[in-house]
Amino acid sequence: MKTHSIALIPGDGIGEEVVRAAVGVLKAAQSGFTLSFQPFDWGCEYYLRTGRMMDPDGLDQLRPFDAILLGAIGLGAIAPGDQPQATVPDHVSLRDLLLRIRFGFDLYVNLRPVQILPGLTPPLRGKTADDIRMVFVRENTEGEYCGLGGRFKRGSSDEVAVQQSVFTRKGVERVLRYAFELARQRPRKRLASATKSNAMQFTMVLWDDVLRELSREYRDVAVSNYHVDALAARMITHPESLDVVVASNLFADILTDLGGALQGSLGLAASANLNPAAFADPAARRGPPMFEPVHGSAPDIAGRGIANPIAAIWAAALMMEHLGEASASRRIMAALETVTGEGRVRTPDLGGHSTTAQFAAAVIEKLATAA
Ligand code: NAD
Ligand code: IPM
Ligand code: MN
Repeated sequence: MKTHSIALIPGDGIGEEVVRAAVGVLKAAQSGFTLSFQPFDWGCEYYLRTGRMMDPDGLDQLRPFDAILLGAIGLGAIAPGDQPQATVPDHVSLRDLLLRIRFGFDLYVNLRPVQILPGLTPPLRGKTADDIRMVFVRENTEGEYCGLGGRFKRGSSDEVAVQQSVFTRKGVERVLRYAFELARQRPRKRLASATKSNAMQFTMVLWDDVLRELSREYRDVAVSNYHVDALAARMITHPESLDVVVASNLFADILTDLGGALQGSLGLAASANLNPAAFADPAARRGPPMFEPVHGSAPDIAGRGIANPIAAIWAAALMMEHLGEASASRRIMAALETVTGEGRVRTPDLGGHSTTAQFAAAVIEKLATAA
């Protein structure tokens, strides 16, 4: 029987809680294949013990796995003015673990579906589930997140900080090409690109140029080019006009939290970090794909067992799809949708009183009934 090896990085805060729920669901979905799980205790606690977010050879340890399932990293402050719970600044914890994996394995597409599950009502007045069917393609390995820059004359009144954005033609073209291909496969065949080329005349105009060049190869795809600020408004005023949306690392980061809000909770937003070049050419593989909820460690609710595990379970379904287990992926989504559709088991972010574990148990029960 085929075995898929999964590296688990639950991480911090609710990361651990939602990964536990997703693993329970994955175990129940094994049929015709098995999953082997290896947990890695990397994260902020690990940092406080060892001075590192992951082992120095962490990427080498992860490389042989078929996929990574990650919860959330970071022990950021709960609210402005609150004391951080730990001494690991976010720019250290996220750079040295999450971004290291995305960049190190060249996972250049971050795929983030925004759609409404059965039984859930989108919070936008006058809009139905049919109006919200987007998928975001986030550039995931360069742009505003490239990490180039520095601080000069630190602490003085003359202090200078520089943070560069780097956009390469190769990097822009491959993510846009993926977005065009995805749009082509969807019924509406629409692609919206978000830039800010009215204010940023180099990087964003390069992006727009490549979009225009590629659009000649994809004449069957209807392309719209928006300014990111206008696109943010459009997500609220005309969500039904959006199908595939492609944007840079930072822009799509922001837009997809808005996407989570459109879905009704950040606890619903799932993501897949992929290197599509490796699908066609195994020699292009730098490491396994990584699947994770879009949300963070939610320090305000961590440890209470009430985090919504839907995003993590959905990410696990995306993982099964990418492992070639389409039927398991569909069974997980069907079980999830039956539970949301019935509406009896809901976590507090969706107005319910159920716990993370109760929700996962309900999904597992549906999987068992279906089998
Ligand atoms: P967050 O996503 O953790 O939380 C934002 C709000 O959404 C909070 O009110 C939280 O309670 C709620 N929320 C998030 N996920 C939820 C869930 N599954 N169920 C119910 N409610 C949920 O964002 P933040 O507060 O900006 O960041 C907290 C920490 O997480 C920081 O250290 C940040 O850097 C980190 N972070 C990590 C990741 C990641 O690892 N992928 C993503 C985002 C933020
Ligand atoms: C996300 C997160 C990360 C990002 C942070 C934690 C670095 O917000 O995955 O959306 O900005 O990519
Ligand atoms: Mn984000």
